[in-house]
Amino acid sequence: MKAIAVFPGEKAVRLIDHAEPKITAPNQVKLRMIEVGICGTDRDITSFQYGFPPEGFDYLVLGHESLGEVVETGAGVKSVKPGDLVVTTVRRPCAHDWCVPCGAGRQDFCASGDYTERGIKQRHGFMTEFVVDEERYLNPVPRELRDHAVLTEPLTIAEKSLLQLWKIQERLPWGCPHTEAEGPGHCHKAVVLGAGPVGLLGAMALRVAGFDVWVYSRTHSHENKDAILDMIGATFIAAETNTVEQMAQQVGSIDVVYEAVGASSLAFDVLKQLGTNAVFIFTGVPGLHAPIPVDADRIMRDMVLKNQIAVGSVNAPPESFAAAIRDLTEFQKRWPDALSKLITGRFPIDQAVDPLTKDVGGIKNIITIAS
Ligand code: BGC
Ligand code: ZN
Repeated sequence: MKAIAVFPGEKAVRLIDHAEPKITAPNQVKLRMIEVGICGTDRDITSFQYGFPPEGFDYLVLGHESLGEVVETGAGVKSVKPGDLVVTTVRRPCAHDWCVPCGAGRQDFCASGDYTERGIKQRHGFMTEFVVDEERYLNPVPRELRDHAVLTEPLTIAEKSLLQLWKIQERLPWGCPHTEAEGPGHCHKAVVLGAGPVGLLGAMALRVAGFDVWVYSRTHSHENKDAILDMIGATFIAAETNTVEQMAQQVGSIDVVYEAVGASSLAFDVLKQLGTNAVFIFTGVPGLHAPIPVDADRIMRDMVLKNQIAVGSVNAPPESFAAAIRDLTEFQKRWPDALSKLITGRFPIDQAVDPLTKDVGGIKNIITIAS
């Protein structure tokens, strides 16, 4: 069957013929892949900075943002049946008995670092015609979400972050007494750094959670971004014409920062502007460049005197996939066009190499495999 693979040794990315997987255990499910999204992690892999083939292979099949349809189930499978749409989780647990998070199904917090990830680290991904996986890694998706469900996985990054935020803020009374009906975040101000897919999906999730949202970003070249931010009621602040200080002045006291760019100098400049009792959530993975000057006294002083927390968040557990599917349903209801505008390009699998290796523009590009 067709698959898109990266060969790190050869520094090549190409369409290959890959053996079709078969169900070999009662808890397994076979999927026909419908669509697979491309993200920054894929770009890092196709520029050979990241990504690890499975043992015994000189290539890695790409793709971790997926939508598939169940075509066959093992004898013991109960939660899905042929015809169901599913999105598959990305990370698989490590094999160490002592890793408590992996043992508890929370490999998103794997303590050993020996986890694997489909399409990223030592397991083939989803940019191929058929995939077999265990039932417990599948998240059923309603048919109505067919056109946008490929956005589930990138949205889980925001959903896990929100989960962390609610848990962290249990440390203090953080409710909004006058407006409880409007959701848990209402009366709080969130700044999203970055207007790529992770940033925009995060902005939508923060809006649904009741936050006032500002998106601070440079790359504001694509007109769809304006339309999306308009629809969801978020305010754009252009980084080209507004310094971080000016941005902070416009927003007022910042309660939450959702970082989705992976640029450390920007992140630490914004960290300096964080408000009282606020939380800064890092989700971007920067390249390892030379050290930069940071206003460490100011930051440390404020972190103590203002009870601030900075937290990193990676990957996502099944509950965040469920939250993403709920939120996508809500986004579709509230802003029917915003999700469609986020998906700016669809490429057949035979033409997948270009959007994976060249700058083809747009916000979220998708590889279509089956209809
Ligand atoms: C994926 C995560 C993954 C992370 C690090 C991201 O692009 O969405 O599932 O854990 O990369 O590999
Ligand atoms: Zn991704």
